[in-house]
Amino acid sequence: MQIAIDGPAASGKTSLGAALAQQFGYLFAETGKMYRAVALGLERGLKLDEIDISVDGNNHFLLNGEDVTDLLHSPRLDQAASRAAIRPEVRRKLVSLQQQIARGRDIVMEGRDIGTVVLPQAEIKIFLEARPSSRARRRMKQRKELDFRTTLREIVARDERDSTRDIAPLNPARDAIIMNTDQKSLEEVICEATDLVKEYLEGHCCVQ
Ligand code: C5P
Repeated sequence: MQIAIDGPAASGKTSLGAALAQQFGYLFAETGKMYRAVALGLERGLKLDEIDISVDGNNHFLLNGEDVTDLLHSPRLDQAASRAAIRPEVRRKLVSLQQQIARGRDIVMEGRDIGTVVLPQAEIKIFLEARPSSRARRRMKQRKELDFRTTLREIVARDERDSTRDIAPLNPARDAIIMNTDQKSLEEVICEATDLVKEYLEGHCCVQ
């Protein structure tokens, strides 16, 4: 069983993905962190072919063997990751790693191109949407940032870069279920998505 969750920055993909993975006992993979780890490697002066990204059993992200998980979420890397993600050779490397991780596994994978490129065969595809202002407010809460206008500006810049790039721009797959989360709490979104998964499993005789 493969579940693809896509959507723009701070739309709640990680919270939803982690909750579904835990509930159904599936592996959880956050692909944005892989782009962040590559951006960190590039920032450190490494060439792309000198960068090795892996994920350990505790969902920690390793850059050439170093656990960099705690370094990945900063406003600087938000932008650097989305700049690195424009490069075709970066995408090729990470899409291949992501497909390798998912092969033959029950998995929830979240990102921007999971339903369209990485796992086009996923049984369930969810695309989360929310207004930039709602997402900026969420991001401020998560990161304890104080300046709404700066946070909003950064989210909009990333939306623009992620949705206008030539390769794998942010787009819902044709068979994705679009969930708008503006008026919903995280619990409501998790409940809705859980029902979708249960419905699918019941319809396919594999109730968990
Ligand atoms: O999801 P997160 O904010 O951690 O992603 C960081 C950046 O990585 C995104 O802004 C996007 O440019 C890129 N990304 C991508 N494809 C993915 C996941 C993330 O291009 N599957």
